Amino acid sequence: MTDLIDHSTSTPGSGTAALPRVLGAGSRATILDGRTVAVAQLNNAATTPPFERTVREVTEFLAEYGALHRGAGPRARATVEAVERAIDRIRTFVGQPAGNGLLFTSNTSAAINVLARLLPLGPDDVVLTSEIEHTSNNLPWRHNTQATVLDVRADDAGALDLGHLDRLLAEYGGRVKLLTVTGASNLTGFCPDLKGLADRAHAVGALLFVDAAQLAPHRRIDMAAAGVDALAFSAHKVYAPFGLGVLSLPRRVLERAPVDPGGGSIDMVVDSGDVVWAPAAERHQTGTWNATGIVALGASCAEILDTGWDVIEAHERSLVAHTAAALDAVPGIRLTVPAERYRTDDRIGTFPFVVDGLHHALVAAVLEHEHGIEVRAGTICNHRLVRRWIGVSDAEQARISAEIAAGDRLASYGIVRASLACHTTAAEVDRLAAALTAITADGPQGRYRAAPEHETYEPA
Ligand SMILES: Cc1ncc(COP(=O)(O)O)c(C=O)c1O
Repeated sequence: MTDLIDHSTSTPGSGTAALPRVLGAGSRATILDGRTVAVAQLNNAATTPPFERTVREVTEFLAEYGALHRGAGPRARATVEAVERAIDRIRTFVGQPAGNGLLFTSNTSAAINVLARLLPLGPDDVVLTSEIEHTSNNLPWRHNTQATVLDVRADDAGALDLGHLDRLLAEYGGRVKLLTVTGASNLTGFCPDLKGLADRAHAVGALLFVDAAQLAPHRRIDMAAAGVDALAFSAHKVYAPFGLGVLSLPRRVLERAPVDPGGGSIDMVVDSGDVVWAPAAERHQTGTWNATGIVALGASCAEILDTGWDVIEAHERSLVAHTAAALDAVPGIRLTVPAERYRTDDRIGTFPFVVDGLHHALVAAVLEHEHGIEVRAGTICNHRLVRRWIGVSDAEQARISAEIAAGDRLASYGIVRASLACHTTAAEVDRLAAALTAITADGPQGRYRAAPEHETYEPA
């Protein structure tokens, strides 16, 4: 079995001590052969550990925690002030335009669903989305609006086909009310040029919405400069896993009755049922706010901004180049996005691959249980490109869908995804490449049983 390097004492981004520290960076796990090894967290696109600073600021905040907007004493005041400071940090973090407001939800998926229900989209309207979207930036537009939803095509490496976008814009013109795209793909890491997309959308009078769930942890966002009208992301992917989602949107969209009314939405309900809505900026923030989540995200934003995007991006870009080369050199695996596309395109560190002859979920289980390396496997909420890579016919898809519906989640085709973050080290990437080399040469060393209900394999 491959030698495992113990990184429990290394600093994040070894050699670049200025990078933020995450909680649990040195955490260890006992693997199948009984050894205890440092965990390599290469599943950051799913969720990130919290920054140490984030946990520290949250702990300090909770010591003074009081009723937000529902109390008058010193603790309530301290809570309001901490939340307001955090909101300022979040606004700065995304470069929010002056005319926008923020809404807080539980995650990106909830934020996009709220936006879909808030926008006045009728049957004559067209929403342009794309083939590279996460399900959460696809289904809400189809299920929660009456608009016609069309997909901009992508090439096999998941880059948007701008020629196709231009043809759709020319064909539907003023009927296009919204262009909604990912800022960075959870499957391929591809980052479209947001300014170029904004210019195209605005030329026909449409809004540009960006699903920034994967963009926010990895690239500086300047909504105002790029012309992004609305944007959503999840705090649990930005080193602040305290159950918060963020939606930034033009205030004029909020000048309507809330789609989820309740406490906090209203200033008065008279007995007849007539309602005096709270001011537009507040009436959509129904119920008690997730103050802890907001403070946590504010702390993570501040940590990133204080570190400097130039430092974080430089570290991650060099890791992306290193990872593309390291994985490309492993015999027996196929990078479904060719390694050179990480050089020629703007991509975050998200690497999908398949291992010849081994089920994707088994590969992920072996990496975890025999090597202490966390990754993700499956269609990862983005099945269309995966289906194309695997070459699944309509007939096969129908059979697979039926088997999944019958309870066998392992019937799905899929890929393995390794994803990097600012705390990832080159040594962790090298461990992944070494582990994959061992797996492709010798196969799994342990015995596993299928756990179809969890779409995984478990040690037998
Ligand atoms: C690009 C993208 N959009 C949306 C989501 C949904 O985020 P959440 O699960 O936090 O709602 C994800 C989650 O992985 C994502 O990667």
